[in-house]
Amino acid sequence: MTLSRRDQALSPRTSAGSSLHPLPIRSEELLTGWSASRSLEYEKRHGNSDLIRAVDILGIGGPFRVVNPWVLEDPKGRRLINAGGYAALPFGEAYPPLVHFLTTFLTQNREMGLPQQSASAWRAALETNLIALLAREAPSHADSGVFFSNSGAEAVETAIKFARAARPRGKLLLNFTSAYHGKTMGALALTPNESYQAPFKPLMPGVLTLPFGDANALEQATLEHGGHNITAVILEPIQGEAGVIVPPPEFLPAVAELARRHDLLVIADEVQTGLGRSGHHFASVAAGLEPDIITLAKPLGGGLVPVGATIARRSIFRKALGGTEAKRHSNTFGGGSLAMAVALRSLELLVEEELAEKARRDGEVGLARLEEIRDRHPRFIRAVRGAGMLFAIQLQPAIRPFLLPGRSETLHTVGTGLAVRELHLGGVHVCFALNASNVLRMTPPLNIPPDLFAEMFARIELVARRNRAAWHLLPRTPLSRLLRLARLAVDG
Ligand SMILES: Cc1ncc(COP(=O)(O)O)c(C=O)c1O
Repeated sequence: MTLSRRDQALSPRTSAGSSLHPLPIRSEELLTGWSASRSLEYEKRHGNSDLIRAVDILGIGGPFRVVNPWVLEDPKGRRLINAGGYAALPFGEAYPPLVHFLTTFLTQNREMGLPQQSASAWRAALETNLIALLAREAPSHADSGVFFSNSGAEAVETAIKFARAARPRGKLLLNFTSAYHGKTMGALALTPNESYQAPFKPLMPGVLTLPFGDANALEQATLEHGGHNITAVILEPIQGEAGVIVPPPEFLPAVAELARRHDLLVIADEVQTGLGRSGHHFASVAAGLEPDIITLAKPLGGGLVPVGATIARRSIFRKALGGTEAKRHSNTFGGGSLAMAVALRSLELLVEEELAEKARRDGEVGLARLEEIRDRHPRFIRAVRGAGMLFAIQLQPAIRPFLLPGRSETLHTVGTGLAVRELHLGGVHVCFALNASNVLRMTPPLNIPPDLFAEMFARIELVARRNRAAWHLLPRTPLSRLLRLARLAVDG
């Protein structure tokens, strides 16, 4: 479609401050295609500018075009296998069965969009299906309730409030080292990462952080403080953002046993591990723990809509939102029909296509491939880890810490950025790890076709072979980019 003269006159370059139209950019323009440079330029001006500047300097800033659910194309025409998405893309981008359902929903749905004070068919169906799926594996949840929100962090906030309401005498929330529960104020207090927390203190008080995977430390803390003083224990069954840290196999059963003995309320944050990614619908339950509260988010939205869900036992739900207090915790958009419908179909596809089982099988193959690559390239890769379709590569340091004393985190981040760039040039789109600066992660779609899955590891191996040692990332990066990156890292 060509733009009318009036639309052209309103394009951002010519219309800023125009008296004709108060909005400089028309939605129609984007449907006909915007240039990559314009997107980057405007994002740098009005968005999260330094983040966009950093990815642009690395040459990985996109925007990307979706070629098919598993393949992206960058503005230079490079095709990349999509292992990014931070575990929120169970089917890749715009998976046809989901898109087809969504378009049908948009034309046929007659239910109100935000049924906040009425029943909703879409919400009812999703609540029922989620609980049925959970109760098959954890029967004590057969009459549990679901509270919907709009992100993982919000699902965690809900869990914190539910736990406090259920345990009014509790003074302490127990969390674990390297945990990642999100960045809203309550979730942030449970995410013990100084660089995320420092500027926002004071945080929610009463958080005691224990070593992850150490059930003895949990027992000692419980004995020291008294089970009745503990509001809840919150844990990730596998720590995704810490770089895919799998606890020892005895840890979660021991937490379950301690919870039984001391009547502890347990929250499993399954925002990342839940609904298939870890190879199980509920990683905590598969490992021998029946949590009282479970948080879910990422894959539930099918990569199309934001959905958070907090599942809680009926007794907890009642204490938080019972009787006339049913609006004590609420949000405007949670449970909206569009989000519920997409989530309903996403959950159905996850189950019908048996993606948890597929993730378990493919995950084993993928981890074995990563181990081979690590063994052949030990000067590039220090360690690899995996759990289902969550993969982590811990890199050797590209830049020696003595080059910038006291800024080792910054140096790790820059080194990892250079590795992410190399993988991009090698045709694989990967993610950072939000709680481990020297780790990069792959979270490929759970339904990735076998040839692309194999090709992804072949490309990773090629990148490792080309670089040989992590410090080779430096001479392989154009000097002008390195200097701009150094300026951004040092100036902050
Ligand atoms: C375990 C866990 N909890 C919570 C969150 C926060 O989710 P969101 O980014 O949707 O707020 C994440 C995000 O990575 C996560 O991995």
